[in-house]
Amino acid sequence: HASDAQRTDLMTITRFVLNEQSKYPESRGDFTILLNNIVLGCKFVCSAVSKAGLAKLIGLAGETNVQGEQQKKLDVLSNEVFVKALISSGRTCILVSEEDEKAIFVEPSKRGRYIVVFDPLDGSSNIDCGVSIGTIFGIYMVKHDQNPTLDDVLQPGRNLVAAGYCMYGSSCTLVLSTGSGVNGFTLDPSLGEFILTHPDIKIPKKGKIYSVNEGNAKNWDEPTTKFVQNCKFPTDGSSPKSLRYIGSMVADVHRTLLYGGIFLYPADKKSPNGKLRVLYEVFPMSYLMEQAGGQAFTGKQRALDLVPEKIHERSPVFLGSYDDIEEIKALYAATN
Ligand code: AHG
Ligand code: MN
Ligand code: MN
Ligand code: MN
Repeated sequence: HASDAQRTDLMTITRFVLNEQSKYPESRGDFTILLNNIVLGCKFVCSAVSKAGLAKLIGLAGETNVQGEQQKKLDVLSNEVFVKALISSGRTCILVSEEDEKAIFVEPSKRGRYIVVFDPLDGSSNIDCGVSIGTIFGIYMVKHDQNPTLDDVLQPGRNLVAAGYCMYGSSCTLVLSTGSGVNGFTLDPSLGEFILTHPDIKIPKKGKIYSVNEGNAKNWDEPTTKFVQNCKFPTDGSSPKSLRYIGSMVADVHRTLLYGGIFLYPADKKSPNGKLRVLYEVFPMSYLMEQAGGQAFTGKQRALDLVPEKIHERSPVFLGSYDDIEEIKALYAATN
């Protein structure tokens, strides 16, 4: 049967990355091996998430992380899964996780050339009610091969060699960029394989949706306040925008990437640096946005030009459709 035969000619994520990497003559397959281990971690967490209620994985783990957040059982489990998967790939030298106060330096016998920064479980507040959550990762190449230091991690986002996220939603979707566009893969649970379903994702140039936690409006700065006011009461004759806010960055960014619009987590009086963390939230998502033809801005500069000084540093972020980010940039330029 023709359609059955077609089913075996699927573009799996492994085949896709092998094809991409073969364009680089110096490629030794290291990146493909690293990515395979990340994919394994995503499959494991996906399966844990889907049976969280059954496997008693709901609720608090009893510890507080360096951000002062109470860790959920799934935060801790996902972190362990990714740390083990990354170290055992033999291709990493430094790991930075939201859930670990200090960077993990891989022991020399298991060391490779890649640095991975990651948010093992994004959207923790949505775990217990079954709303979409995810994993975010960014990959750098080490600068000092022989003796990796924190200096290797504190690189601007534009130096990333790859970034992606996996969303554990109505389906399990992995979105990846290795610097030549953005591609989306959906897990086929019956095969256990991620299949290319969203080739060459481009974000619409202008969107009709804005996404923000408006409960913080009382403490916003003027440009943010004006921007959101314009979304609701446009003065140029256009229709008001729709508001969508899930509260999981992965899910909010995924929708923004596919439908267009803007996602913002701005600074406010209580959190002058916003909430989202530069290395494993702001950078990977900004990289994907730019690769898809959108933009990412901090209120002061291009997000990927930030040079972090601390591994858990935070920054305000505005990311999404090209034209929508131009608008927020103009409002900041007008107040400075
Ligand atoms: P995490 O669950 O990894 O700590 O991240 C939570 C983040 C992010 O997913 C989301 O965009 C944001 O927190 C939501 O924050 P508010 O609840 O303040 O809106
Ligand atoms: Mn957290
Ligand atoms: Mn997060
Ligand atoms: Mn998290």
